[in-house]
Amino acid sequence: MRSSKELASRLRFDRFPRPDFFRKRYLLVGAATALAGLGLWLWMSLTGGHMQYNPGPVTQNHATFGARCESCHDPFQNVQNEACLSCHPSRDHSEFVVRDADCRECHVEHLGEAGMLDVDDRACVVCHGELETTRDAPPIARDVSSFAAHPQFAVLRDGASDGAAIRFNHEIHLTSDKVRQALPEGAASEQCAPYAKLECKTCHQVDETGMLMREVTFDRDCACCHQQDVQGPLGSITAPHRAPDVIRENLTAKLLVLGVGRANEIFSSRETSLPGVRDRGPIDESRSLGEYERTWLAKLEAQLYQPLDARAPLLENNKYCFLCHDAESPYVAGTVLPVLKPTRIAQRWLAHSEFGHAKHEMVRCEDCHAAVRSSSKTSDVNLPPKELCAKCHTEDAASSAGARCALCHLYHDTSRDPAQRAAAQRTIPVAVLLGEELPERGLQIPPGPTPSLPAAGEGAAAAE
Ligand code: HEC
Ligand code: HEC
Ligand code: HEC
Ligand code: HEC
Ligand code: HEC
Ligand code: HEC
Ligand code: HEC
Ligand code: HEC
Ligand code: HEC
Ligand code: HEC
Repeated sequence: MRSSKELASRLRFDRFPRPDFFRKRYLLVGAATALAGLGLWLWMSLTGGHMQYNPGPVTQNHATFGARCESCHDPFQNVQNEACLSCHPSRDHSEFVVRDADCRECHVEHLGEAGMLDVDDRACVVCHGELETTRDAPPIARDVSSFAAHPQFAVLRDGASDGAAIRFNHEIHLTSDKVRQALPEGAASEQCAPYAKLECKTCHQVDETGMLMREVTFDRDCACCHQQDVQGPLGSITAPHRAPDVIRENLTAKLLVLGVGRANEIFSSRETSLPGVRDRGPIDESRSLGEYERTWLAKLEAQLYQPLDARAPLLENNKYCFLCHDAESPYVAGTVLPVLKPTRIAQRWLAHSEFGHAKHEMVRCEDCHAAVRSSSKTSDVNLPPKELCAKCHTEDAASSAGARCALCHLYHDTSRDPAQRAAAQRTIPVAVLLGEELPERGLQIPPGPTPSLPAAGEGAAAAE
């Protein structure tokens, strides 16, 4: 047994360090360091805009007030929504949310140029991976965690159809020889020249936002071949393409002008003094102008509103309104005008997402709208399925056109503004994308010039 004294004697106390320069003057050193720090802090505060705490530059749009940290930060707290809302209008995502997400979950500040619009998918998937909503049966999928796991677009699910109340047969118009021969001769044909060969672009062109196709209108896109000419007292009269009551006013006026201006020919053509005019009864034997107008108006309207001859739906038998329209209530000869069903031609198909045609000009119409050329019913839905988008919009490939949620979806209800989005998008060289992703034929831009169409309104004027 060794005694504690023995053990203690082995300890070498003489090796214990003696107080050195700094230890001797620790108060002084501490004070000097603190002063230097304070000085630097003061200097940064006064000259650098609090850059001592600043994790990085704020986004360009916030740069003007970026140095005033307190515009967004309260001491000892995460950034509060209220700070952002003091400048930005309040905006909702959906009225059915169970909680409001904080701005900072999605908009990351202090990344400078990378900006606050680079919203990460996780910010969406946190809810949409296992969606909870305030209603029992939301009409949308509850498990969208990536574009690969994304449901088919609702308009292409079973049972969906195009509810427009207008008859239009893509197949006939794009393939029939009769359509090519249908163009009227003479003066009208210059205006109708683009219609000599019907292509998608004759009727459908990207609107000024670059997103959707502009509306198809009768006056510009159908009138050349389907002009509403009816037989009047002295040859054909063109009815404008308007609601029936407007047409009635227009035809009444046209009849009046004819009746007054060419009374001799209409009411008293027994006169044979004019060379070449044979002796025959007057075109109209009415005893008053009012009676003449009523009888002729009824004749004209009977032509316009003749019911559809369903056994022969083609043009020869059905030239007028009910070739294309359905009646909500029928025409009663001479008295009650028909009411047509609202056409309701959809302008937006994918209302819950964004899609721009201009950005996809390198793809041919028919690669996305594959069945149009053989589509004979309005009720057909000829939109591309999700799988087609996924050929370019993939999660993994380096050449992907992007598959982030925010590429295709807006978050804020109030910001449905394409210009805002355009500014936030990357530009990917198309060549990179076109590598192997799609079959070769899918990626050629059809040659030849775009037909120049009469501007909206011009067609209307010419048709009257
Ligand atoms: C436009 C609003 C805005 C301004 C101005 C701003 N910040 Fe921030 N800052 C943010 C947001 C948003 C975050 C993310 C914070 C969070 O999660 O709470 C952040 C994060 C930070 C963080 C990291 C803290 C953390 O929670 O991760 C620091 C440090 C910071 N800011 C300092 C500053 C300083 C210093 C200034 C002034 C020079 C400043 N900020 C100006 C919005 C702003
Ligand atoms: C002092 C006013 C002010 C405050 C506070 C403010 N912003 Fe902004 N913000 C602006 C202005 C001005 C713009 C540029 C114009 C515009 O887009 O409305 C802008 C632009 C934006 C943009 C557009 C994209 C970009 O990169 O510029 C986003 C996103 C945004 N702010 C989010 C936020 C968030 C999130 C907060 C809170 C952390 C916040 N802002 C706080 C004034 C403010
Ligand atoms: C706080 C939870 C939450 C977050 C975060 C969230 N969502 Fe939603 N989202 C909802 C709810 C709830 C609904 C509505 C469900 C219903 O119809 O009952 C919804 C609806 C939608 C819809 C379909 C309906 C519509 O109005 O367009 C889309 C698309 C959508 N969200 C995309 C996104 C995207 C993209 C993000 C990320 C930028 C996102 N969401 C982030 C909760 C959230
Ligand atoms: C003579 C004019 C005309 C031509 C040419 C034409 N369309 Fe249409 N298109 C219409 C009309 C009218 C509608 C609206 C009626 C409807 O919903 O079917 C329509 C609707 C559509 C729709 C949306 C409804 C649906 O069927 O899914 C798509 C997509 C479409 N057209 C694609 C095309 C493509 C692609 C071409 C060329 C191959 C083409 N169209 C050629 C007149 C035309
Ligand atoms: C280039 C001339 C031309 C244009 C432009 C045109 N059509 Fe036609 N349309 C025809 C011809 C010709 C027929 C008859 C085809 C046949 O008999 O084979 C026809 C037939 C129709 C039919 C009957 C088809 C069927 O299913 O039997 C409808 C409905 C119709 N057109 C609607 C429209 C609408 C709506 C527009 C404008 C969006 C339009 N057409 C534009 C020439 C045209
Ligand atoms: C060749 C097909 C065709 C014929 C024939 C036709 N229309 Fe139309 N009509 C259309 C198309 C296509 C639209 C939708 C685009 C537009 O408003 O120009 C339309 C729209 C309308 C509208 C606007 C209502 C709405 O819901 O969009 C009225 C009113 C109308 N037509 C009345 C008539 C009347 C009355 C006639 C007969 C004199 C007639 N149309 C003949 C094709 C036709
Ligand atoms: C390449 C484009 C694209 C991308 C990327 C994308 N979506 Fe979609 N999403 C769509 C389209 C198109 C629809 C159909 C919209 C409609 O029916 O109106 C849709 C529909 C939805 C719906 C409604 C689903 C339903 O059942 O009808 C939700 C929710 C949704 N997307 C969430 C997301 C989320 C979350 C992400 C990111 C993980 C995402 N989307 C990525 C294009 C996209
Ligand atoms: C990359 C695929 C793609 C290509 C290429 C494409 N479309 Fe579309 N088209 C769509 C999608 C997706 C929609 C649904 C957009 C919406 O309404 O939300 C659509 C909608 C339409 C509609 C219905 C009206 C509208 O704007 O929503 C018409 C008409 C149409 N396309 C015609 C064309 C024509 C003509 C071309 C060729 C010049 C073309 N598309 C090229 C994908 C495509
Ligand atoms: C041939 C490849 C290709 C196909 C197929 C394709 N895209 Fe794209 N898409 C692109 C390219 C390239 C861009 C441009 C990327 C950019 O500039 O950020 C783009 C951009 C987009 C954008 C953002 C720009 C905008 O506002 O349009 C959306 C949304 C989009 N695509 C949705 C779709 C949907 C939905 C489909 C399927 C109907 C689809 N894409 C099919 C290549 C494609
Ligand atoms: C779940 C993610 C998410 C949340 C939470 C969120 N944003 Fe956004 N925000 C987005 C996306 C994605 C965009 C780009 C496209 C759009 O408008 O949806 C955007 C765009 C914006 C823009 C620029 C476009 C515009 O509308 O002017 C502003 C400003 C903005 N957000 C402010 C806010 C503010 C303030 C809050 C908090 C109250 C907030 N955001 C919460 C995802 C989000």
